[in-house]
Amino acid sequence: MTDDACIRTDRLVLRRFRDADRGPFAELNADPRVMEHFVRPLTRAESDDFVDRIEERFRKQGYSLWAVEVRGSDPFIGYVGLWDATFEAPFTPTVEVGWRLAARAWGHGYATEAAEAAVDDGLVRVGVRDIVSFTAAANLRSRAVMERIGMVRDPDGDFLHPAVPEDHPVRPHVLYRFPDLELRRREAAGEVA
Ligand SMILES: CC(C)(COP(=O)(O)OP(=O)(O)OC[C@H]1O[C@@H](n2cnc3c(N)ncnc32)[C@H](O)[C@@H]1OP(=O)(O)O)[C@@H](O)C(=O)NCCC(=O)NCCS
Repeated sequence: MTDDACIRTDRLVLRRFRDADRGPFAELNADPRVMEHFVRPLTRAESDDFVDRIEERFRKQGYSLWAVEVRGSDPFIGYVGLWDATFEAPFTPTVEVGWRLAARAWGHGYATEAAEAAVDDGLVRVGVRDIVSFTAAANLRSRAVMERIGMVRDPDGDFLHPAVPEDHPVRPHVLYRFPDLELRRREAAGEVA
């Protein structure tokens, strides 16, 4: 995959991370509102390390978390994309679709628009065979994105995230899946009308 690879949607560009994104990314990773459903906000060093891992996965796997830009108005609002889930759980290893946007970019449908595009790219261009999503049970905004892109909660999928300390309120997680991922792949590939 090339460094200038990108996906264009009606309002957004999903693109590779640039050095200029590191500052604004650290800001949103340090924002308690954005990080409410995580163990804690990230330091600047942790945020920069995350960018390095994101870009390493693009280079090695051809998919990762896309930096999201609002065309013509905001050069970086956060990430949306695919991320290997390798921690110990009944449904892993698999690929997660996930999102994290600066609070100023919430309420516009950007996460939903970008996630649809990232999933379709993963299914068609990359050939990913399984995509799930999961979040802290109390993260209703994230769960609403999952539902808007057509995922449904797997009632047997609830789990305690092993990377979250015991007794931490964000440990209980819910799991969402696409009801028919192969149909979605064929639709995205233009194989069904
Ligand atoms: C999770 C997160 C990305 C959701 O953001 P969001 O703005 O609620 O979701 P979307 O971008 O899909 O926007 C949907 C909202 O935009 C509104 N909207 C406005 N214009 C719209 C448009 N043109 N199209 C679609 N929706 C539109 C929708 O009505 C909806 O509003 P509502 O929340 O009042 O129902 C965001 O809250 C976030 O980054 N949280 C912190 C990080 C996090 O928790 N990530 C997930 C961890 S698993």
